[in-house]
Amino acid sequence: MSAGALLSVRDLAVEFRTSEGVVHAVDHVSYDVGGGEVVGVVGESGCGKTVTALAVLGLIATPPGRIAAGEILFDGRDLLQASRRELQHLRGNEISMIFQDPQSSLNPVFTIGQQIVAVLRAHDRRLSNRAARARAVELLDKVGITDAPGRLHEYPHQWSGGMCQRAMIAMAIANRPRLLIADEPTTALDVTIQAQVLDVLREAQHDTGAAIVLITHDLGVVAEMAGRVVVMYAGGVVETGWVGDLFASPRHPYTLGLLASLPRLDAEVERLDPIAGQPPSLVRRPSGCAFHPRCRLRQGRDRCVDERPALGVKGVHRAACHFSHELSGETVSAGATGASGERAGIGR
Ligand SMILES: Nc1ncnc2c1ncn2[C@@H]1O[C@H](COP(=O)(O)OP(=O)(O)OP(=O)(O)O)[C@@H](O)[C@H]1O
Ligand SMILES: [Mg+2]
Repeated sequence: MSAGALLSVRDLAVEFRTSEGVVHAVDHVSYDVGGGEVVGVVGESGCGKTVTALAVLGLIATPPGRIAAGEILFDGRDLLQASRRELQHLRGNEISMIFQDPQSSLNPVFTIGQQIVAVLRAHDRRLSNRAARARAVELLDKVGITDAPGRLHEYPHQWSGGMCQRAMIAMAIANRPRLLIADEPTTALDVTIQAQVLDVLREAQHDTGAAIVLITHDLGVVAEMAGRVVVMYAGGVVETGWVGDLFASPRHPYTLGLLASLPRLDAEVERLDPIAGQPPSLVRRPSGCAFHPRCRLRQGRDRCVDERPALGVKGVHRAACHFSHELSGETVSAGATGASGERAGIGR
């Protein structure tokens, strides 16, 4: 689907030099996001979700980081070739990001109002202070902050985690970006506030028509919000597809493991099937398929150890597994992902 894609990450590799060796944080990742589309990115902690997003925004600190390979096409233009100035213009104007930790992403020494006004004026210098403040109130109103005019003068520490997350969303949509990257936007929040923040995000998307890359470890959030999903493991994409297809009949043993480890709402006795073993080192990546040391399909087969499986390019539902056809009979019941809309997180 790359022809008309808004964002096309192609064969991206990002490494970090550390005292233990080179960390292959993003190891030849490809995925596309169409205009207005919501794509979920899931995977265990440390699998490269955030680093991929930071690369899109040109925010990989070099050193210790380095883009080792790949292209990041936004509207057909390679962002990796863009000048610092061009990137600065794109960030916040065309692409914006909601960072993983809202409270520490806001500047503690400026009021919420000053920070939103700064975002607005950075991208429209002709905007008067007065007009920017009016727009800030409008934005806070939109994300459900009551008494916005009175609260503009408050500092981040006076706001709860959920409110700070709303402020971050307000800033992210302030300039009507075409792409919004939301990195674990609800992880730090309790369940009720999570649901409200997701509603705000959904409305913001509806309102601005922005495409969203939604990074989360919570498959329930993906089921609720996304159309397509990208599953990452050890810095690579192991499976991608429409949410419904991938949840109903996963083609990669890792995805099956993720789904099976969700609490079952329909089971009489709660039985969790965590994926055995530990995530691999990204310094010494296992040979062949990175998942092979934990995979129950492998059963002594050399091919999984020797040959890295490709994700392929044909069709929407694709998996990087030599033996994915052997999973075709295995399905995960709707109960595992919360048939009635309840959400369940996978352990980190
Ligand atoms: N500046 C850095 N220096 C060295 N290693 C790094 C650096 N930034 C990230 N990494 C490594 O890159 C890998 C991917 O990290 P990333 O933050 O993308 O994970 P993630 O999938 O977002 O995890 P989480 O779900 O915990 O947020 C990790 O192994 C991490 O330790
Ligand atoms: Mg992360």
